[in-house]
Amino acid sequence: MNILIVGDVVSKLGRKALEENFAIIKREKKINFVIVNGENISHGKGMNVGHYKWLMEQGVNVVTLGNHSFNNNQIYQIIDTPNIVRPYNYANDETPGHGYCVINYNNIKITVFQMMGTVFMNGEYKNPFIVTDKLLNSVESDIYICDFHGEATSEKIAFGLHFDGRIQIIFGTHTHVGTNDLRILPNGTAYITDIGMTGPLNGVIGTKKEIIINRFINNGGTEPFAPEDSGPSQFNAIIVTIDDKTKRVTNVERIERFE
Ligand SMILES: [Fe+2]
Ligand SMILES: [Fe+2]
Repeated sequence: MNILIVGDVVSKLGRKALEENFAIIKREKKINFVIVNGENISHGKGMNVGHYKWLMEQGVNVVTLGNHSFNNNQIYQIIDTPNIVRPYNYANDETPGHGYCVINYNNIKITVFQMMGTVFMNGEYKNPFIVTDKLLNSVESDIYICDFHGEATSEKIAFGLHFDGRIQIIFGTHTHVGTNDLRILPNGTAYITDIGMTGPLNGVIGTKKEIIINRFINNGGTEPFAPEDSGPSQFNAIIVTIDDKTKRVTNVERIERFE
């Protein structure tokens, strides 16, 4: 089976790039399962009900979130939907929603979960290495897929190598900048440090460039955050092929398109 995974989709240009590129990819190859990181899909922060429904219309099977999970208040209306996955390792056990889902695809159990990195991240999180080990031991599945939402490349690479062979796909999100290290690790895990964002090309990781440049020059600045909603866009994704019988990764492919 071919699994298509799209990194952080940012605002209006992200949705436009996603729709256009899905049409192209689906013409070129058979895609069986789709995962999209939706933490920035609604005006750059969080996901509203309408954009979740729109993702379902695009044929998305699972939506992952991140540190912006609860930035749009509408998320509370849908956070218990089975195929919406927020970070698993919130320190607060009372956090709404769930950190993993198990989907049955043609009698193959696919478990998708999300871990938040702890280096350079705001918020309180449990150790992702320790809780992932417990999760893998307690949830039975044919295929495991992890969205590691983190800032530090070292933490993501260490996580990838530590769980190599136990998780079929570990993909990084959150930095909005794609890395060129997609590969199959020695024990069979498909790994990439960050897929990169799908959204505006000429913003600063999705935000209007003037706002962020001003913050760097004037030591913070006061202008409120706003996504770049005009100009060219970028689309970043990976496709991982898994053998339906052996459940092993047989191919990895990175897609990056600009327009
Ligand atoms: Fe993001
Ligand atoms: Fe994030």
